[in-house]
Amino acid sequence: MTKYHIQGGKPLRGSITISGAKNAAVAIIPAALLVDGVCRIENIPQISDVTLILQILQELGADIRTVNRTTVDIDCSHIRNRQVPYELARKIRASYYLVGALLGRFGWAEVPLPGGCDLGGRPIDQHVKGFVSMGADVDVRSGLICAKVPGGRLAGGQVYLDMVSVGATMNIMLAAVLADGMTIIENAAKEPHIVDLANFLNSMGANIMGAGTDVIKIRGVKQLRGGAYSIIPDQIEAGTYMAAVAAAGGDVLIQNVIPKHLDCITAKLVEMGVEVEELDDAVRVRRSGPISRTNVKTMPYPGFPTDMQPQIAAVLCLANGTSVLTEGVWDSRYRYVDEFRRMGAHIQVDGKVAVIEGVPALTGAPVHACDLRAGAAMVIAGLAAQGVTEVDGIYHIERGYENLVGKLAGVGADIRTITVPDEDAKSQAG
Ligand code: EPZ
Repeated sequence: MTKYHIQGGKPLRGSITISGAKNAAVAIIPAALLVDGVCRIENIPQISDVTLILQILQELGADIRTVNRTTVDIDCSHIRNRQVPYELARKIRASYYLVGALLGRFGWAEVPLPGGCDLGGRPIDQHVKGFVSMGADVDVRSGLICAKVPGGRLAGGQVYLDMVSVGATMNIMLAAVLADGMTIIENAAKEPHIVDLANFLNSMGANIMGAGTDVIKIRGVKQLRGGAYSIIPDQIEAGTYMAAVAAAGGDVLIQNVIPKHLDCITAKLVEMGVEVEELDDAVRVRRSGPISRTNVKTMPYPGFPTDMQPQIAAVLCLANGTSVLTEGVWDSRYRYVDEFRRMGAHIQVDGKVAVIEGVPALTGAPVHACDLRAGAAMVIAGLAAQGVTEVDGIYHIERGYENLVGKLAGVGADIRTITVPDEDAKSQAG
């Protein structure tokens, strides 16, 4: 078993370069299924979720060529297999994008129900509602999402999402680009990765209007052609390092970001006494004084991102005073709280609300990464804590953060990956 070993208490200094956005990449790669010809996709993050989605495409018959560390060419002209392997699909949430892409391209899809982080119920009824509005028959049985269009080609439809859903917005967009006529998505999500997917598809010949607003209109086209596209920088990866500087202190230039995408995170850090300077494609984050308490409520973009909730909680654990954190997106995103308590944090959770009473210092402890962002939060807490923290369950973190250890070590953190014999791991798991 591998773990991260962190000797805390060292301020961070230097610069970190942000990779391509995970949640854009895992939708844009399946979108290549809709394209006749070669898609060159640049700025792909090297994370295990991306490796999995590329592997799935390869199993379906896509021709994938690595151009360099962050660029691949994907050619889906000769897809021969449309059955998505269960063992791969169940490991990743984003496998549900294969339903929209396969249905749009071939009028038929059978995809195992997706996996991903356990954040409470993760229904897909809004995705289904969208496909049905375009004329598909959709059935969930034997662990599979089975979708079929009787005539072979979807027709434009109109769908009002009952709640703002990133996945449903992107999936309906994927299904609609090759449909016959206009599809309208109302109450659509507005996250930067929604706009990125629309820009990717438009650059391949799609006709999508309004991405980034709550009404998206997609006029179906007959065919998408190949081209080249570069994925946007990862808003949440950048926010995670901003939170790390806020918690551990120091002065770090975070490069290759779109500062506008970080506004919702910057605003809260500034309230907490962190200095954030916006540059063209970078932010400089500094903290030397005390951390002030604040309240945070997560909401769909442009609100404070739920995917930054555990990381901001790590910072609030060290604030002067009591903060209230409200989760506005997921039913259950506080499973990590017990791990923070092991480090001396004072947190009470009642439903979607966590009350965090700041303490002067956290103390290092063995902790578990129960999901991707919770894992990142454990690392942040470990960097700020006195003593040694060991984080296990790091495969969750490696699903979404490229070279986290190298990037943090590069700004002076004392963090390394260690391997412990499985026997030790078992006795600890007891
Ligand atoms: C995406 O998940 C992200 N995952 C999540 O990031 C992120 O937390 C979430 O969006 C919200 O921003 C990927 O992009 C792969 P939703 P998604 O559909 O699309 C309810 C991370 O850490 N809902 O926007 O699955 C749902 O239960 C991950 O990177 C329905 O009820 O999220 C939730 O309460 C974790 N029915 C809310 O909507 C549906 O059909 C928002 O979910 C769909 C969603």
